[in-house]
Amino acid sequence: MSAARTLAPDPRGQIKTRQRVRDLAEVFTHEREVKAMLDLIPDMFPAGSTKTVDAKFLEPACGSGNFLEEILRRKLAGVRFARVHLVSRYEHWLLRALASIYGVDICADNVNESRLRLLEVLRSHYHNDANTMAPSEGFAAAARAIVASNIVHADFLADASRIEVVDYQPGRGGTFLRVWSMLDDSAEVRRMPDLFHPEPAPKRDEVPVHYTMLAANGEPTRASELVNTKGG
Ligand SMILES: C[S@@+](CC[C@H](N)C(=O)[O-])C[C@H]1O[C@@H](n2cnc3c(N)ncnc32)[C@H](O)[C@@H]1O
Repeated sequence: MSAARTLAPDPRGQIKTRQRVRDLAEVFTHEREVKAMLDLIPDMFPAGSTKTVDAKFLEPACGSGNFLEEILRRKLAGVRFARVHLVSRYEHWLLRALASIYGVDICADNVNESRLRLLEVLRSHYHNDANTMAPSEGFAAAARAIVASNIVHADFLADASRIEVVDYQPGRGGTFLRVWSMLDDSAEVRRMPDLFHPEPAPKRDEVPVHYTMLAANGEPTRASELVNTKGG
């Protein structure tokens, strides 16, 4: 008598199917290990502080977002409405934490799941921290635009230097200046304090764009072309 060959349910949700383990080496990291690994870099998440909110993280095979989610949660721990008292400043800080997180995966469904999980962490942080306040018009659309640009469906091994993401450089008054940049996987990047390839000349906004207008202005923006509409 042969043993049943069905895959037993994985209680820790680390495996979707055997086929995917074979094809993609897809075994997700357990939450306990994710936390333990991030605990090794406490300086990146100083307690109750926004000092490192813009620190950039890249997960080149992000899966369904186990690391990305925990990184965002830790960055947001220091972003408290009670510390800023101004909706636009608060929302700008929240988006800065999100906009500095980058992920790549070869599987479209993993990319989609990662994006949704990041948006849910942002939504629930907002709700729990400032629950009597409704997010302003344009905030949710800006968050969606950010994850669409920076959580990318691609093959990191074959195409790393052709993967375009956006460097959201925070400015005054709730703005970002966006620089469309290629990721750099060269040996040189390990000596440079940045993730982005210096060539080819990057596309960039000519004027800073308020976060509520990011979604409506998806392309590099000139002052004369700025669409003054908040995304839905
Ligand atoms: C071992 S899982 C790890 C996922 C996640 N980093 C985690 O720790 O939970 C490997 C992931 O790499 C992805 N992957 C495999 N080959 C890839 C490639 N060439 N480029 C980008 N992602 C890839 C798979 O789709 C899968 O989601």
